[in-house]
Amino acid sequence: MPYAFAEIAFTPSVRAAQERGGSGHYAQFLSDLRNGGDRLSGIEREFIEARDGFYQATVSETGWPYVQFRGGQKGFLRALDDQTIAYADVRGNRQYISVGNLAVNDRISLILMDYPQARRLKIWGRVNIVAAGEAHRAVLDSASGRVERIVQIHVEAFDWNCPSHIPRRFTAEEAGQELEAAYHENAVLMAEIHALRQQIAKGGGG
Ligand SMILES: Cc1cc2nc3c(=O)[nH]c(=O)nc-3n(C[C@H](O)[C@H](O)[C@H](O)COP(=O)(O)O)c2cc1C
Repeated sequence: MPYAFAEIAFTPSVRAAQERGGSGHYAQFLSDLRNGGDRLSGIEREFIEARDGFYQATVSETGWPYVQFRGGQKGFLRALDDQTIAYADVRGNRQYISVGNLAVNDRISLILMDYPQARRLKIWGRVNIVAAGEAHRAVLDSASGRVERIVQIHVEAFDWNCPSHIPRRFTAEEAGQELEAAYHENAVLMAEIHALRQQIAKGGGG
């Protein structure tokens, strides 16, 4: 379904707000990159498995949204097929807010950020909680910590957000790689300057 995201997000009250705001036809909101479908292509799957964290929203039985950040080693969120993603939920602070919310409402919404490349992917889905013992091996292998359950998400829609307004940020690891390259370049330049100075001191111009 190409407009899956709009089918979910553009509720009657949203459509009414769009009418009042003069938004016109909803197709204009869909990104050019991918038209917000419900089947993950290789591009989305690769992006998902390269993340080291994501923001996750659930809804409580009293109607409150709850946003939490989930972090882990790169690839802990796995794309198992074109409509299934999953991660191992490890033992944490034992507030169990997301898990409690999901017990009464299986809807979930994720935002996956790539700050260095200024990209973000929004995902809507429904959750199946799977016992750790019944989990897909790849999901378990990507986890670090004591796995309490597997959060398996049936993807109902996704959309690539427009890249503007995403600040470019680097993790310490990514910044380290950039710095390493800059140090190397600097060392090469310094050696070149040193050699040129020596040439000049010897009276040789070139
Ligand atoms: C020992 C310990 C380990 C944790 N490990 C993680 C982790 O791997 N990933 C993460 O996002 N939060 C981790 N947390 C933080 C929170 O406990 C975690 O986000 C928790 O699952 C909150 O879920 P909730 O907000 O839905 O209740 C950890 C906390 C503790 C105390």
